[in-house]
Amino acid sequence: MKSTSEEQRATQTRGTDGTVLEVESVDAGYGEMKILHAVSARVDRGELVSIIGPNGAGKSTVLKCILGLIKPTKGRVLFKGENITANAPHKIIASGIGYVPQGRIVFPDMSVLENLEMGGFTVRDKARLTGNLERVFDLFPVLDERRKQMAGTMSGGQQQMLAIGRALMSGPETILLDEPSLGLAPRFVDIVFEGLLRMGQEGITMVVVEQNAARALEMADRAYVLEFGRNRFEGTGEELLNDERVRRLYLGG
Ligand SMILES: Nc1ncnc2c1ncn2[C@@H]1O[C@H](COP(=O)(O)OP(=O)(O)O)[C@@H](O)[C@H]1O
Ligand SMILES: [Mg+2]
Repeated sequence: MKSTSEEQRATQTRGTDGTVLEVESVDAGYGEMKILHAVSARVDRGELVSIIGPNGAGKSTVLKCILGLIKPTKGRVLFKGENITANAPHKIIASGIGYVPQGRIVFPDMSVLENLEMGGFTVRDKARLTGNLERVFDLFPVLDERRKQMAGTMSGGQQQMLAIGRALMSGPETILLDEPSLGLAPRFVDIVFEGLLRMGQEGITMVVVEQNAARALEMADRAYVLEFGRNRFEGTGEELLNDERVRRLYLGG
């Protein structure tokens, strides 16, 4: 594992066949406030890549840049080799990137099924839509059992499954998840993470932002540690879990 400061970021592999998503030396912020400083990250096809780091490090901001919700002032975002930096969010989402924002936002007064249907509204092909719905029910059976229940009456963990399921309904090949385990009871954390691992087995590429660093590294193929809006460490999940500095700083010893 390397600390990013030791690394020649400019030599990062670029445009290789297996690369799905690339954040290239991105600067971004809110108004005058600069938050990200030359942040780079790469996600290969089928990988689960975690982004960890302290509160305020800029993790959510990276996801917003990928989705086009914030425009970088420097650098680029590439999806399947195409420069999407200037594209509108709806166009980026339509090109195959799903997004599960922080806070398990569901439509509380709509049923589970209606929430899922909202997620698939861009899918014209009925058979594909049915297939996507079956996959979601297969991943999270509780959503099938409760398909008529109002989303707002479900537990936090169930709402998170619904939020993930809704993002899956458009059949994205890549999904960005922002703090999927935040505020969940431990058993729901397990269920949600198991769901992510199964999505990975089905070939879905994932970027998972997490404050639960230990769990995020355990399930990650590779991970990035951000600090103060900069790359700090990167490596495989295992390398980072076993790294002395990462353990001390982010894993409580
Ligand atoms: N909408 C916003 N307007 C202004 N500042 C923001 C906004 N969202 C986030 N920030 C600031 O950007 C920094 C990084 O935030 P964020 O990307 O949400 O961090 P993280 O997800 O790692 O906790 C923080 O200092 C935060 O206060
Ligand atoms: Mg965040």
